[in-house]
Amino acid sequence: MPAIISPSAQHKEVLKYQFKNVEKIPTKIWEDSRDASRHIAQSIALAMRQKQQDGEMIVLGLATGSSPVKVYEELVRLHREEKLSFQNVITFNLDEYYPMMPEAQQSYVRFMREHLFDHVDIKPGNIHIPDGTVPMEEVKAYCEAYEKKIDSVGGIDIQLLGIGRTGHIGFNEPGSWENSLTRLVRLDNITRRDALKDFQKEEDVPYRAITMGIASIMKARTVYLLAWGNHKAPVVKKAVEDEISSGVPATYLQKHPNVRVILDKAAAEDLTRVKSPWLVGMCHWDDQLICQAVVWLSQTVGKPILKLTDEDYAEHGLSDLTLEHASAYSINIQVFNRLQHTITGWPGGKPNADDTYRPERAKPARKRIIIFSPHPDDDVISMGGTFLRLVEQGHDVHVAYQTSGNIAVHDHDALRFLEFMDEFYKRQGLDSEENLKRFHKIEKFIKGKQADEADIPEAREIKGLIRRGEARAGARFCGLDDKHIHFLDMPFYETGRRRKSNLSEADIQIIMDLLAKIKPHQVYAAGDLADPHDTHRVCLDAIIESFKRLQNEDWMKDCWMWLYRGAWHEWAIHEIEMAVPISPQELLKKRRAIFMHQSQKDRPPFPGEDEREFWQRAEDRNRATAHIYRELGLAEYEAMEAFARWRI
Ligand code: F6R
Repeated sequence: MPAIISPSAQHKEVLKYQFKNVEKIPTKIWEDSRDASRHIAQSIALAMRQKQQDGEMIVLGLATGSSPVKVYEELVRLHREEKLSFQNVITFNLDEYYPMMPEAQQSYVRFMREHLFDHVDIKPGNIHIPDGTVPMEEVKAYCEAYEKKIDSVGGIDIQLLGIGRTGHIGFNEPGSWENSLTRLVRLDNITRRDALKDFQKEEDVPYRAITMGIASIMKARTVYLLAWGNHKAPVVKKAVEDEISSGVPATYLQKHPNVRVILDKAAAEDLTRVKSPWLVGMCHWDDQLICQAVVWLSQTVGKPILKLTDEDYAEHGLSDLTLEHASAYSINIQVFNRLQHTITGWPGGKPNADDTYRPERAKPARKRIIIFSPHPDDDVISMGGTFLRLVEQGHDVHVAYQTSGNIAVHDHDALRFLEFMDEFYKRQGLDSEENLKRFHKIEKFIKGKQADEADIPEAREIKGLIRRGEARAGARFCGLDDKHIHFLDMPFYETGRRRKSNLSEADIQIIMDLLAKIKPHQVYAAGDLADPHDTHRVCLDAIIESFKRLQNEDWMKDCWMWLYRGAWHEWAIHEIEMAVPISPQELLKKRRAIFMHQSQKDRPPFPGEDEREFWQRAEDRNRATAHIYRELGLAEYEAMEAFARWRI
């Protein structure tokens, strides 16, 4: 039995106090970025209304990027549905790339118009965004004037901030001074790489930006710093828990008298109170937390679980955990067994076997299964070994590619396929004037394409078809026939740009239709809780919403969903509920399935910060999981794919 220790009121006080010792900025963790954003928007709206009643203006400091998007969405909704007026609002944006034309796709002027200003009744004269077109020799004077303008309207009442992976706020990169004001800055390489999501090529990302300084931000009366997704977790921990230093400019906020850090669960992942809560206070011990603590202890002292002693527990602040047990050994056994039971070579359940301690049900022996793959290659990258096993073990496996993935194909690849078609048509005598005209139009477009230009629909179609062919090849390689391969082309993805639309009814309907048609016993989906605007997250939202809507269907009662993580991040050991071992041969086969995705080999467009190819990332990750199991004292496998079960 796990030791359940409920924190008394007194303990809760201790907990709060000790968080404060570790966390140097008041920090609130929300289940979900959406609720958090709504809450912030409502606080802003309240302040706007109060000022309106007093006949005063309110000054908002605004950020761009993915973090504030949902706040703006809610403000727009409040304007439309609840008559929130922006007539008394003055805004100052934090920053703008330099140089940057206001009408360019990547400009923050355009961003703010698309997300907020075009949808509310703000007076255009009250909007201020640093101007990316000011001639170099005038930038200094321009920045001074920007700063004076903020002061002249009484300073900023509420400042919204995101945080970059470098720890920047605004574009105040590491090394920025505490007394810095609005100025021209050079962007950090990591920031430029992150910005690649909005540009085609690295060379297109500007090297500089105009940004409000640290001192300009610190003058704001209230500051909200927002961060969503586990890619932000390491820098959030530094900002909240580390000493103040110019190396992580967000740490300067620790000196602000009225600042709040607002996080979703994923961004809070590395905070001490989440990662090792026993270090900051009494815990409510449940099975999962016990597992987390024991794995942590085992890794901290460098011993397998079954060798941990009472002294190890006591010396590492875990004597609480041993209180209700005769000795540490029974906890060791409990956690060891739990981990042992996650391992199965039968991801679809082992027929005719006792399944009491197995992750999956034995019955029905042959399951109907849908593997949802957000992009056309996530299935093989993230769960290729399990995919192969499910097919080999005789299940009725379907794969559903949720989006076309067309954005991630190089122009030169699209051209190659276009020329192939062109020549083939000519050789086959199919080169009608109409066809040739069409080919030429696309060819002319691709050859003359500008850096920030979105693809015309025909070019997107070719790119989508290239990825379709690759996905089909990968799924066939894993043993599926064409009737079991589904292309969903979810509409939210089809913007032709990195930035996608919001999830719509049409998207959800597509998923519901497939679920209702197949009536699966098992569903696999990408469970990334990263950036809320990531394709993976939206794809998962669509599946979860479909599950909720279909929950009363009979077949749904027998349907389990397993979540795999994308190419970048693995589940923490205590979160894993099914670990599927992969033999050396299977790993090689998985690699070959990933190789079917030729357009993604070497260096795809928008590669992100990781230099490794997808097959390398997948193998490193699967080997790392097996290694951790081994270090904890479990069996040694070549590699492992990990899953967590989602419950409604
Ligand atoms: C944007 C800005 C930046 C971003 C930060 C986080 O105006 O000043 O500091 O807030 O780079 O960006 P996202 O929110 O896209 O992760």
